[in-house]
Amino acid sequence: MRLVGERILIRDLSYKDSEDFYEYAKSDRVGPNAGWKPIPSLEIAKRVVSGYVLSKDVFAIVLKEENKLIGTISIYSENTLRRYKYVKQLGFSLSDKYWNNGYMTEAVKLVINYIFTKTDCEVIEVGHHAGNFQSKRVIEKCGFNYDGRLCKYKKLYDGRLVDADFYSITKDEFIRREKDERIEA
Ligand SMILES: CC(C)(COP(=O)(O)OP(=O)(O)OC[C@H]1O[C@@H](n2cnc3c(N)ncnc32)[C@H](O)[C@@H]1OP(=O)(O)O)[C@@H](O)C(=O)NCCC(=O)NCCS
Repeated sequence: MRLVGERILIRDLSYKDSEDFYEYAKSDRVGPNAGWKPIPSLEIAKRVVSGYVLSKDVFAIVLKEENKLIGTISIYSENTLRRYKYVKQLGFSLSDKYWNNGYMTEAVKLVINYIFTKTDCEVIEVGHHAGNFQSKRVIEKCGFNYDGRLCKYKKLYDGRLVDADFYSITKDEFIRREKDERIEA
């Protein structure tokens, strides 16, 4: 996959991205908010990236002007909340060095557009742990609708039991929104 935005591009992840991934995945500001433990060494980062590459679910977010991986975005087809076909669930994280520049909003919008125009997916779902306000804001800016809170959603690596808020957008809602935006422009 290769999606080109104004400032970022999304492409298949490669083993060569391991160092860039490790640079931010070791931070305790990034992984824990998404539910994973900070990556303790480059060796482990290489293993994690290899797993991502094999899964084919996780894509690289590259900052065009630096030609550098600054985050990842995942498109899961398995283990979605909804128990029917044609559903995808998104996950994402970004190097804390690049937060609050709108990069993840740009990435998520590119991916939504790709999924609804190039695949037969009908619903995209996304969630965040309760209290993850940055993620909530990205999700809202990308046009998702709030579905509700799942209490005691997950037990984290540190034993904490967290609630999670979930959102979704349908293909019809996406098409309607695109049309409205064209009319407004
Ligand atoms: C969530 C994350 C991907 C956002 O990436 P980003 O590129 O900084 O996101 P954007 O810049 O597109 O948008 C961030 C928004 O959150 C807002 N924000 C930042 N901190 C906030 C806070 N504490 N409370 C409320 N809003 C906040 C920003 O102001 C911005 O909104 P705005 O454009 O209306 O001003 C990034 O913070 C991250 O990787 N966090 C750690 C991992 C994670 O939480 N992943 C998501 C798991 S569901």
